[in-house]
Amino acid sequence: MARRLSEDELEQIKGSVDLVELIGQDIALTKRGKNYLGLCPFHNEKTPSFNVSPDKQFFHCFGCGKSGTVFNYLMFQKNIDFMSAVKEIAEIGNIKIDGLEEKQSFEKPHQRLYDIHHEAAIFFHHLLVNTEYGSEPLEYLQARGIDAEIIEHFNIGFSPKGQESLLKKLLIGKGYTEIELLESGLFARNEQGTLRETFFNRIIFPLADEFNHVIGFSGRTMDAHHPAKYLNSPQTKIFNKSHELFHLAEAKPVVRKTQEVFVMEGFMDVIAAYRVGILNTVASMGTSLTGAHIERLSKLSKKLIFAFDGDSAGQNAIYKALQLVNQKIPAEVVIFPERLDPDDYLKKYGDEALVNLMQHARSSQVSFLIDFTKSQYNLANEAEQLAFVQKMLPIIGQVKSIVAQDVHLTQLSELAPLVSKEALIQELSNGQTRYSKTNTLDRLQKKQTNQNNLVRLSQLEQAERQLLARVLEKPTVLQELIENQAFNFKHPIYQKIYVQIIAYFLRHDIIKVTDILESLENEERSVLFEISSLELDDEITDGEIKDLVAIIEKQSLLDQLNQVIQRQREAKANGNFEAELNLGLEIIQLQQEIQK
Ligand code: UTP
Ligand code: MN
Repeated sequence: MARRLSEDELEQIKGSVDLVELIGQDIALTKRGKNYLGLCPFHNEKTPSFNVSPDKQFFHCFGCGKSGTVFNYLMFQKNIDFMSAVKEIAEIGNIKIDGLEEKQSFEKPHQRLYDIHHEAAIFFHHLLVNTEYGSEPLEYLQARGIDAEIIEHFNIGFSPKGQESLLKKLLIGKGYTEIELLESGLFARNEQGTLRETFFNRIIFPLADEFNHVIGFSGRTMDAHHPAKYLNSPQTKIFNKSHELFHLAEAKPVVRKTQEVFVMEGFMDVIAAYRVGILNTVASMGTSLTGAHIERLSKLSKKLIFAFDGDSAGQNAIYKALQLVNQKIPAEVVIFPERLDPDDYLKKYGDEALVNLMQHARSSQVSFLIDFTKSQYNLANEAEQLAFVQKMLPIIGQVKSIVAQDVHLTQLSELAPLVSKEALIQELSNGQTRYSKTNTLDRLQKKQTNQNNLVRLSQLEQAERQLLARVLEKPTVLQELIENQAFNFKHPIYQKIYVQIIAYFLRHDIIKVTDILESLENEERSVLFEISSLELDDEITDGEIKDLVAIIEKQSLLDQLNQVIQRQREAKANGNFEAELNLGLEIIQLQQEIQK
């Protein structure tokens, strides 16, 4: 009984899965300007022309022309129809909509493992909040400032000891096999060969994937002297520790807006941040941060902020993480004083202090590296000053902003006073080609990929494109153009797109790029996708629209003038005197208009 879904329902389903992440699971995507670029999964190519726009949640291949939303992506990729794609996305995004019956064929490959975790999470939580088992752990949590709201939000639970495995009974009763129980990591066989629970007498924190499916657990002992403070689920078919991040599902929507993500060491720290209203936080789970984690986060966010523990282990971990980041993406560091971790800091100094520290007291990655590295040198010693400078210069050389570079050189010369700042600047510019090799390469590649997609454009076309891009951004720009009735785009393709945008706007009263893209075909769709991906200043400056219109009008007249001059030359060469004279008059007229 599949029924028609409303626009709102479709939007909700569409919005539940991030296109970049979905596609990123199939192909490698690299950030290029506003979009991600990769090798098209739908046709054979050597140079990438497959673009994914995170803002528009739309993909487009300039090679084979395939494009669309998350739904279209699945349709192409799995060769399925629209409704099947919608159902599958709803499933991934964990959206329940009545009438969208779940079919067997849409089950994820490890559905039963996910189900076991789901059941177990409910069960642990129930034991904590509704049963006598919960009284001691609740007291412990209370003392740590974790109240009922937080317990609900993070679905915290408890696994008691000596309860003859109620969980096992529950799961077997629901039809799961012993093999499945073992596969979940929630049980292990003991020497007698019977199944034994992994977690007992521990407060249970469910660990979820980016779609909020529980994939594992971490259990904290309440015994301050227990050697294993936390016990985590083992690696399983659905829990890959070097990939998964705690709290990612909840952080995602906020990260998408702020383009900043805090990376923390433990989930207790994530919970501390949650308590003060900071939600764009993640933590790795029972492992140190990996390149895969960083890669994942940099697809989601423009900036990473490391808020690790203030002890030396935490600082070392930041250093390692920054090696992985390698200045490929902007990163900042929050330093917690007195070796505190974020959670301890909250307890000691309160909500406001934690917010202030995390939001306003960050240092740049290079400042952190300078501070961190200097402790490894005895800077009272001349040779060590030099060695320190040699170590830091290549890192500073990679900083993209000249202003920031200057700040770091000042820092460096203050720490190593035997080396003057002038000498540092000199040394830096000598080494520049060496140090900035990766950047140059990057830039070169960027140029090449651009050239694959774009032909060199005249000033007229550039102005037309920029104007169209602005039209897409703001209905007021469109209205301004419509009011100026004499205005037309000079190239037919832009005029066609412009007319389509007007038509859409008149019908819907808003401009939704994705919808317009979907309504266009072939070349027009490619062109509009390119235009909507242009990297322009965030703000439309005063007079920008008028200037663009003026450039378009003037350039168009200049183009016409050139054509007439060309025709006049031909007439002259052919000895057609009359035509030559008439064209001469036209030239004068055009010149006068241009003068205006
Ligand atoms: P921490 O030792 O910093 O724990 O470990 P914490 O966040 O401060 O926790 P509380 O405040 O003492 O309760 C940080 C992370 O390292 C992993 C866990 O993922 C934890 O969140 N860890 C730590 C373990 O896996 N096992 C351990 O025994 C300890
Ligand atoms: Mn702590």
